[in-house]
Amino acid sequence: MIEIVSEKYFHLMNEHSSYLFYIMENQQLGHLYYGKPLGKLTEADLSYLVERTNKSAGTVKYSSENGLFTLADRQQEYPVYGSSDFKTGAIDIFIDETPLYLDFKVKGYDIINEKKRSLDRPRTYGTSEKVETLSILLEDEPHQIALTLNYSIFEDSAAIVQSQRLENLGKTPVKIQKMLSGILELPTADYEFIHLSGAWLKERHVKRRSLEQGTVSVGSLKGASGHQHNPFIALQAKNGSVTTGEVYGLNFLYSGNFTGQVEVDEWDKTRMMLGINPEYFSWELKEKEVFETPEAVLLYSSNGLDELSRRYAEFIETHIIDKKWQKKERPIVFNNWEATYFDFTHEKLLGLAETGKQLGMECFVLDDGWFGKRNADRGSLGDWWYDEEKFPNGIGAFAKDIHQLDLQLGIWFEPEMVSPDSGIYREHPDWVVRHRGERVSVGRGQYVLDFANPKVVDHVYQQMRKIIVETKLEYIKWDMNRNITEAYSEYLRQQNISQTEFFHRYILGVYSLYEKILTDFPDLLIEGCAGGGGRYDLGILFYSPQIWPSDDSDAVERLAIQTGTLLAYPLSSFSNHVSASPNHQVDRVTSLTMRQNVAIFGPLGYELDISALTTQERKTIKEKISFYKKHRQLLTQGSFYQLIEAGSNEVAWGVVDEAKEEAIIGFYRILAKPNNPALEYFKIPFLSEDKTYRINEREQANGRILKQLGLRKPYQFNGANHEQAQVTGDFQSYIYHLQAVEE
Ligand code: DGJ
Repeated sequence: MIEIVSEKYFHLMNEHSSYLFYIMENQQLGHLYYGKPLGKLTEADLSYLVERTNKSAGTVKYSSENGLFTLADRQQEYPVYGSSDFKTGAIDIFIDETPLYLDFKVKGYDIINEKKRSLDRPRTYGTSEKVETLSILLEDEPHQIALTLNYSIFEDSAAIVQSQRLENLGKTPVKIQKMLSGILELPTADYEFIHLSGAWLKERHVKRRSLEQGTVSVGSLKGASGHQHNPFIALQAKNGSVTTGEVYGLNFLYSGNFTGQVEVDEWDKTRMMLGINPEYFSWELKEKEVFETPEAVLLYSSNGLDELSRRYAEFIETHIIDKKWQKKERPIVFNNWEATYFDFTHEKLLGLAETGKQLGMECFVLDDGWFGKRNADRGSLGDWWYDEEKFPNGIGAFAKDIHQLDLQLGIWFEPEMVSPDSGIYREHPDWVVRHRGERVSVGRGQYVLDFANPKVVDHVYQQMRKIIVETKLEYIKWDMNRNITEAYSEYLRQQNISQTEFFHRYILGVYSLYEKILTDFPDLLIEGCAGGGGRYDLGILFYSPQIWPSDDSDAVERLAIQTGTLLAYPLSSFSNHVSASPNHQVDRVTSLTMRQNVAIFGPLGYELDISALTTQERKTIKEKISFYKKHRQLLTQGSFYQLIEAGSNEVAWGVVDEAKEEAIIGFYRILAKPNNPALEYFKIPFLSEDKTYRINEREQANGRILKQLGLRKPYQFNGANHEQAQVTGDFQSYIYHLQAVEE
């Protein structure tokens, strides 16, 4: 997978892609190509790829010895600002107030097979047959700084995983002001910038705009990746679609502050970068100290966004999510949040659990309000011990009752938070993120705990541990409901560590709590959550194979959230719940059928008052759960395809198994349109042309028809066709089950 030609050209290749770079005249690393596989290349081929023209005439040259050579002309692997290239660089280092104009020259390289999974930080992993990592060792000798650029290539993917390591070889401390993780340079600007953005209740909608000269960026300074922007960005060739056009994605294995940006220079060259947000960040390295950046997953597709999304899904499922959860069935959850909010007792919950069990659910998740004296969202966080009024016989007895119903038990925690009226805050007011002498903002009446302080992390862990043991817990919902403001750590002050290291140390503290929990309880299924989808990123997915994507479970809004999220994350990670109608967030009325038909794509759950269901509703739920159980593998782990481009009145998507024997397709029409044409089709590109498929056990068509012409859209009610109408009114949904016919 890694070929080195003439000790100068580095070719990372497999059957999915080629990634090429070389040592430039000045001994720095220049980028050559990333895209479709190029096969074996000779030195002549490779030298043909090297830029020789003097396009950037008029700009500054790199040095008087190198003739016309200027960095402005070259595509770089790890660009540095300030020396014949005026674009924003990937790394900035200072000594005191003086910037260093870095000049990293290649010193050697190393190739390592195998990447072990270890829980200390999120990283990709793979066995020795699957992965090779090329580490290029560079050094800036005058400044005594060593930089290692790591590139991992995986046999089964077009992904290139990038990360860097910086070591201070000198005696004088240096300050890293910026050190980004993912970089790709492209020779033109003929692309659209794609990102996943929104807000609370409308996270990760697909946004796109054409590139122009200048810089566009997304990012977060909230201490978490955030509801507003996701740490995933992409460039798609102009006029591309879901199924056409080259696309380059960059996704970040990190959950804290980030920046993702694309810069187009005066020659229409493009630089895309992703990494830790350099604002409110710097990191000191004393002699021999090392800083490692989080990994970024660069991924290429030549066939549009849909292929990129499937490539990300496969990669994440195989090389990021814990093996234990790969292809493993996730339980159907009942979550009591929107059924009861804070108003519950042992008996009331047990009643819901019994009903859930009768309907086919498999895991009871006890949400917020079970601990301290928490009858509203304004207190008790940090006192992780059960409320004796709600659980007079103890949380252990409640857990036993749930387990006796043959249900798994899940419990909600918000480990990073504390309420001012809690025991932990009274005892340790300096464990909170704030400068004690200064004004502090409030959010949901709670403070953020200082997870940069290992003692705080350990304290929270000890409390959680007791509950996990006492309840023989199978599942945790890990929430995080407020972002960090006035970032300041008393612990860092005492340790004489700069406050500019706080945000990164905070998120490493969060990872260390995950590490402690999963080391002691490796079978726990953790569902990530942050006031809905405020931390839906690869860092969290490394520990929690599924994430609550949004507090908005309205079926119509979920169509957009799911479309965006699945561009960069696997279906198996997208927790989907059926909630009440009218919906609690948007007050929209939708049918139970519509809500279920949306929620069955992904790990399924229910989050409504199931004690108040009508007989018909119980029947509808039972039937859907039994359908889901039969097809759970396909509905959570199948290959996902977007079939109608999102953004119109209709959405359609489908999942198919590897052998193309079986597929399930969901069609949704948001508003009814009067007097539609009688025959409307949507194409199904992923079936086998050599197979014939039974459609909902009623009719059949071969793969060629379904590909060329498509599936017939469901008949809509049009005022006269009562008998035949398959969908009616607004918010329509229809599920197709396709099964290959034995021939
Ligand atoms: C925000 C989450 O997204 C909800 O699902 C719920 O757990 C509440 N927090 C509880 O406070």
